[in-house]
Amino acid sequence: MYYTPGMLKSMKRVEATREFRLTQELPLLDPVQKVDLLENHHPDYIEDVFRELKVGPSKGTLTPKEFASVFEAYSAIDPEEFDLSTVDYDVDVLVVGGGGAGASAALVAHEHGADVLLVTKLRFGDANTIMAQGGIQGADKENDSPAIHYLDVMGGGRYFNDPDLVEALVVDAPGALAWLEKLGVMFDKEPDGTMVSIHGGGTSRQRMHAARDYTGGEIMKTLRDEVQNRKIPYVEFSPAYELLTDGKKVTGAVLHNLETEEYLVVRAKTVILATGGAGRLHVDGFPTTNHYGATADGLVLGYRVGAPLVFMDTIQYHPTGAAYPEQLLGQLVTEKVRGLGGQLVNTDGNRFIYELETRDVEAAAIIRECSERKKGVTTPSGYSAVWLDTPIIEVLRGEGIIRKRLPAMYRQYQRFEIDMAAVPILVYPTQHYQNGGLEIDADTETKIENLYAAGELSGGIHGRNRLMGNSLLDVVVFGRRAGKAAAERAATIKKSGKLSLAHLTEFHEELEGVGVAHDRIAPMLLPDYRRSKATEKKLVVLP
Ligand code: FUM
Repeated sequence: MYYTPGMLKSMKRVEATREFRLTQELPLLDPVQKVDLLENHHPDYIEDVFRELKVGPSKGTLTPKEFASVFEAYSAIDPEEFDLSTVDYDVDVLVVGGGGAGASAALVAHEHGADVLLVTKLRFGDANTIMAQGGIQGADKENDSPAIHYLDVMGGGRYFNDPDLVEALVVDAPGALAWLEKLGVMFDKEPDGTMVSIHGGGTSRQRMHAARDYTGGEIMKTLRDEVQNRKIPYVEFSPAYELLTDGKKVTGAVLHNLETEEYLVVRAKTVILATGGAGRLHVDGFPTTNHYGATADGLVLGYRVGAPLVFMDTIQYHPTGAAYPEQLLGQLVTEKVRGLGGQLVNTDGNRFIYELETRDVEAAAIIRECSERKKGVTTPSGYSAVWLDTPIIEVLRGEGIIRKRLPAMYRQYQRFEIDMAAVPILVYPTQHYQNGGLEIDADTETKIENLYAAGELSGGIHGRNRLMGNSLLDVVVFGRRAGKAAAERAATIKKSGKLSLAHLTEFHEELEGVGVAHDRIAPMLLPDYRRSKATEKKLVVLP
């Protein structure tokens, strides 16, 4: 791999300070230092990134501008013209989304006797879940408990989290891990059969369980296999375009088959939205770790039928997105690298933050190092980034540990002739997760009757900052809760509801009232990189 002379010089400094750093202890920041760092350097505190929503149930609340433009957009469907007279699918529970939350929900709804249909925009499993690397939390060790896990989650979220949702997350966690194992997920184990577990940022106990560094892939593959084995029907390449209501309650959805271009009408007693995240909106021009379909679709549909949003003014930037080579820009460099002892180091070879602070603090510290302090390393394209000293992991934990515990990451860098066991890699924050989303209760029901939301598109569980490993946990815990609640509710509904798009007419009128241009259409479904400035690569360019 090509390195500039400046990069090579800086790399030498990283090598030169490694021995000293082996025993160097950096303290956690105190609460005042944290607030100061966040307020001055975390993108959530840049006023210009956000604006107030002009329409809908959360009108007046702040959201990133990119989100506001999909919330304030017209449907591709004309509600006055659309023919709802032919019903293509008639089911108890419709699950929209084929990631971890959707698959978990479908399995549990099916177990509860519901007639289930799962629909997904891309292939079943094309989701952020499959790309999750580092691990899944769950208090299953003797020195740990759901109560300690609860405190960590609340602290990580700056105590803004909804306590009922956090309680559900941590209390269900050990059972969720056991369920996954029973389905066949191969977690890393110690010789005595206990889980291998390490720390993540902001955790007071080692409760990060993993399958090497492809934990999400292992979980998603297992869940998908199980849905297939149980012959639960699913339809691929058919995103939900719109929800249907009886004027009040949700009663189904309109799908759009991306291959045949047909519209399909689903009547359902209950609907679970599990469409995941929105990294492909590229808030403030940041690159993203997210998969190609992460475009906020479920959020848009839920919002249009009147479901309010919470915490939409906070985005998670993963501290260590790949910054070089450019082909990997923004891709995830798992927090597990730091959990195993990898250190963040500036151009002089010095550490500048304890590596297992929470993600918001880590990201802000890296941004400060590259901007205000001008201690970043300049890449050939002129971006500024910091080193993640990976060879130190081999010194700390023994030769070969990177290939053993981080095989996917090792391979990813090897493709570019970078041996991360021998040389450090360059990182910078990348858009990773939306902390907020549709407001739900502990059974995942939104404020709209018979509409449930599980996984990344829901809000409140993680407050203003999620901890590593609580997203894979969230999708399983709340996916399962959604499946149970939606199936049980469906069983109480004797007669399916009327199908109407009247909410859309009202929403369109609201948009017209505030002058939204008619060519703004959502859901976006796929990002259009041909004509947008979607990724301006928010890496600090040095003068
Ligand atoms: O760093 C990571 O492996 C990401 C995990 C997560 O977001 O939970």
